[in-house]
Amino acid sequence: MNLIVPPEFLDSGGLNVREFVTAILFGAMMTDDLSDLSDVAAFYDELGKKTLSAWEDEYKTHDDVQTACHIVGHTNCVLDLACGYGRVSLALAELGCEVYGLDISPVLIADAKADSNHLKNLHYSVGDMRELPYEESFFDKVLCFWASFAHLIKEGDQLACLNEIYRVLKPEGYCFMVLMDPSHEFWQTLLSQSDSRVVFPQYYKAHPPIFVHNEETLKDLVGKTSFEKFELERRTMNHSKRLVMHLYKR
Ligand SMILES: C[S@@+](CC[C@H](N)C(=O)[O-])C[C@H]1O[C@@H](n2cnc3c(N)ncnc32)[C@H](O)[C@@H]1O
Repeated sequence: MNLIVPPEFLDSGGLNVREFVTAILFGAMMTDDLSDLSDVAAFYDELGKKTLSAWEDEYKTHDDVQTACHIVGHTNCVLDLACGYGRVSLALAELGCEVYGLDISPVLIADAKADSNHLKNLHYSVGDMRELPYEESFFDKVLCFWASFAHLIKEGDQLACLNEIYRVLKPEGYCFMVLMDPSHEFWQTLLSQSDSRVVFPQYYKAHPPIFVHNEETLKDLVGKTSFEKFELERRTMNHSKRLVMHLYKR
């Protein structure tokens, strides 16, 4: 069993016994309940910026960046969750707000940092979207592009992530999350071969499994979180159909 002591305990200048026991129990709970995602990190480490940027080329990225900039507007502080090599974070930081990019792949974060040394308002970290290294009520907005959430295939992992997004959002905060459109023929074919909503795409070797949500499964999931309001929308983004989730903290 690995133990994780949440940073807020360590930053407080010392632990009393009660805090120490709570920290140990918290650490045990987090590490034992969550899945090992090292295969996902290794997959993206191997792809690196070169392959990912070829998949989602400049033309498509331009569309995502426009959407992101429109959402962020005059926002002060935004999290690009599962930011990859930073194609969205970089454009947002150029708008002038404080941008935090977090990704589980050290290689992609290194690629992202290499492109952004000149920007003091862009902060990258290697980390896990189920255990965010930020204080509560830190962000005005959280964005999660290109179906990154689909890598969480267990409900416990998905809830951990949504609860973390809720925790780090300020009151009146908003999260924009892009998922794949389950009605697309590609996902329909894979779903027909699976007895659950977990599928195994074959378009690249060793692709990690993906969870394909639809409106009903998302409604059930979000109903188990603290989000007071959410909306779902099918929309065409970067020339593909997507299912978009809007989450609001009150
Ligand atoms: C398809 S890429 C999208 C990257 C980025 N959002 C974009 O639009 O360019 C999916 C990303 O999710 C990241 N990822 C997967 N699971 C993660 C986790 N548990 N925590 C943080 N990042 C994760 C991967 O490393 C990868 O960079």
